[in-house]
Amino acid sequence: MKVLIADDIHENMFAFLTNIGLSFSYLPHLKRSEILEIIADYEGLIIRSKTKIDKEFLVKAVNLKFIARAGAGLDLIDMEIANSKKIAIFSANEGNKDAVAEHVIAMLLNLFAKINQADAQVKNYQWDREGNRGIELMGKTVALIGYGNNGKATAQRLIGFGVKVLANDPHKTIDGIFAHDASMQQIFDEADVLSLHLPLNNETNLLVNEKFINQFKKPFYFINISRGEIVVQSDLIKALQNKKILGACLDVLENEKIDQLAGIQKSDFEKLSKMKNVILSPHIAGWTVESYEKINLVLFEKIKNFLGEKKIG
Ligand code: 3PG
Repeated sequence: MKVLIADDIHENMFAFLTNIGLSFSYLPHLKRSEILEIIADYEGLIIRSKTKIDKEFLVKAVNLKFIARAGAGLDLIDMEIANSKKIAIFSANEGNKDAVAEHVIAMLLNLFAKINQADAQVKNYQWDREGNRGIELMGKTVALIGYGNNGKATAQRLIGFGVKVLANDPHKTIDGIFAHDASMQQIFDEADVLSLHLPLNNETNLLVNEKFINQFKKPFYFINISRGEIVVQSDLIKALQNKKILGACLDVLENEKIDQLAGIQKSDFEKLSKMKNVILSPHIAGWTVESYEKINLVLFEKIKNFLGEKKIG
């Protein structure tokens, strides 16, 4: 079986594949058109998020048996067509859950303790203690929508701060150890902080809009480390302006090509980037030294099991 690795991945994957008798081509710099030309030669594909696996791609991938996504989100893959072609899909959510959870905590503590703002001021010879009075996580209610790998890992860390954690996920069992199983109504009624831990799909696209935001009883803080497309960014900005949302931590944006923004997207981004109560990062929540390696370990185990079940290699 031949595997195409069409994106940058940690080099530990090379020995993993060799150990289970798979030959591979490591061609991370191929453009989409170049991948399309050669994909028919491969039975396995390892990708990150560079390449959209759509109908055009899958029609050409006539021999593909598995796609291993070195990351969590599967939104770039047309799952319906992949399933109909019986292509196995593996993701590595377990490999970056700790990175994501730590990033959520880092952003939230930074926002509450005004670290970014204070750091910039002190380095500029300003010594303003009152203007940098923080707020505490202790005693707050934090709601998580989505309780998969990174939602649960986030809850596990949050309870150490004396926080009540509510979680809503119709697709998962919430066992009450780190989070209370909550209805959306309970979240609207009680949350001080809302954090999204959702995949992007038809159910979640544009979920967080003005109507959704206005259902919250109290003004709240908002965290998005999942996908920018889940949020109507202009509605988020409006809510920040009218103080329904008190602050936001955003690792993802509706358009992450920030050097190519134009029109409303550009003016919206400029508004966001001027807000002191908004912390931004460039889609790095799952992007740590450790997760780069752990992601491959997770994929390796899944590919190995798949080959074992199919008795191929
Ligand atoms: C993920 O889905 O794991 C993250 O969004 C990061 O994906 P990437 O590192 O492959 O872009």
